[in-house]
Amino acid sequence: MNAFIDGEADAYAKRNARGPEIEPWFKGLLQTIDFHSVVDLGCGVAEHRLVVAHSVSGCRTLGVEAASGEDHVTPRQTMLFGRDIETFDIPECDLVMFSYILHWLPEAHEVLQRAMKVSKYILINDFFPDDPIDNPYAHCEGVVTRKRRYGMYCADAGWVRHIAVSYRYHNNPDDEPCQCEIWRKP
Ligand SMILES: C[S@@+](CC[C@H](N)C(=O)[O-])C[C@H]1O[C@@H](n2cnc3c(N)ncnc32)[C@H](O)[C@@H]1O
Repeated sequence: MNAFIDGEADAYAKRNARGPEIEPWFKGLLQTIDFHSVVDLGCGVAEHRLVVAHSVSGCRTLGVEAASGEDHVTPRQTMLFGRDIETFDIPECDLVMFSYILHWLPEAHEVLQRAMKVSKYILINDFFPDDPIDNPYAHCEGVVTRKRRYGMYCADAGWVRHIAVSYRYHNNPDDEPCQCEIWRKP
């Protein structure tokens, strides 16, 4: 059972209807790599990061999202709604993006391993705590968020960290530390 597939994704989309605010440096990070296709796993219904990626390289784009997308006006990028990342067969592509999604996935390590088999670059944008933190998720009983430095799984597989930006959530110095990293196949 996955709480997001079972309704929380639509509830989340309603609570966050405007979509994420894209960090001012996000586009610049993508401009440092050569990519022609991107898969954004857990992209949200607003698909903002795919729009940025497309603006950088004119790449083919695919978004995968648990929400049904029923409130979504015509998607600009190719979107698969109602899909669970943990069972999704990731197609071959240059770049797989994981932005604020790995901490939701109980099988994050396994999903990352599959992504590394089919891509040249992995983007991980997420919380970046010194030590792993597990927190109950306020909106769903029994659901836990697992904040960790997920790039360690890329490093363990011999991947090379191409670039990284450290920042604070919502740009507030009191907020949690976060990091956006792009990893490259060796
Ligand atoms: C915190 S949002 C991040 C959205 C966007 N990637 C960003 O950078 O802001 C997490 C998204 O992942 C989706 N999600 C959570 N678990 C999922 C799963 N197992 N399969 C597909 N999508 C999932 C949620 O519905 C939500 O839209």
